[in-house]
Amino acid sequence: MQLQNKIILVVGGATGIGKATATLCAKRGAQVVIADINETAGIETATATNSSFIKVDVTSESNITALYNKIDSQYGRLDVLIQAAGLLKGAFTPIEELTYETWKLVMDINVKGSFLSVKHATPLLKKSKRGVVLLLSSGAAQGGSSSYAYGASKGGVTSLGITLAGKLAPDNIRLNVLHPGNIRTPMKLSVIEADAQKRGESMDKLVAESNLGEPEGVARILAWLASDDADYLRGNVFTR
Ligand SMILES: NC(=O)c1ccc[n+]([C@@H]2O[C@H](COP(=O)([O-])OP(=O)(O)OC[C@H]3O[C@@H](n4cnc5c(N)ncnc54)[C@H](O)[C@@H]3O)[C@@H](O)[C@H]2O)c1
Repeated sequence: MQLQNKIILVVGGATGIGKATATLCAKRGAQVVIADINETAGIETATATNSSFIKVDVTSESNITALYNKIDSQYGRLDVLIQAAGLLKGAFTPIEELTYETWKLVMDINVKGSFLSVKHATPLLKKSKRGVVLLLSSGAAQGGSSSYAYGASKGGVTSLGITLAGKLAPDNIRLNVLHPGNIRTPMKLSVIEADAQKRGESMDKLVAESNLGEPEGVARILAWLASDDADYLRGNVFTR
């Protein structure tokens, strides 16, 4: 399950699941590139893992093309794209009060960001000859989300992934989708905090009741799916 000689890009690798994954992949010998909008946390994670950092807003196509141009000129290929950048906004907001601005921002980061990232990664993944794409979606794709915008966006990410998996297969690019659930990250903790405020309960109590998983647990799955040991797996949706 080693990752020596792999060039792995973690988009959204500054915090949470992306950070844990970048850390584990680097530990297993990969050359990791972290791309994120959060420059401070991104540089911190990159420094701690001996990786490189490129500031990117996934909603900007020019940022995304600049990112892949840099990877192309430095490495000439990309072996693994892990698309972890995401946003959850509008938690517990009734549909009548959910603004179009919130809807659009969440859709742009989660759906447009995933689309742009995979689109511009594909030429570099083809050069790898055994490329891997791992999309971070969510069980929210199938209902139960605290945010209508987030749930709808994750439906889009999962459908993008399962539609693309078969189309990329002839180029020996294998794509899988992950639906993590209830993982202790800044995103999840912010939703629990909003819930605590809404219910007038303590954050500690709700965290204790939430049965949170750790980002390192998701990282172990992603690192394995990125490795050649998972060669036969494509087009799957993995759920915690
Ligand atoms: N934590 C959970 O329980 C959980 C459950 C299901 C799915 N997920 C998904 O896992 C992925 C990682 O989330 P996380 O929980 O680690 O949250 P997180 O907030 O810690 O990580 C998200 C990362 O995306 C980055 N990001 C946000 N907007 C960006 C933009 N416009 N351009 C570039 N980067 C941007 C953030 O800076 C951050 O580093 C997300 O796609 C999330 O939807 C998380």
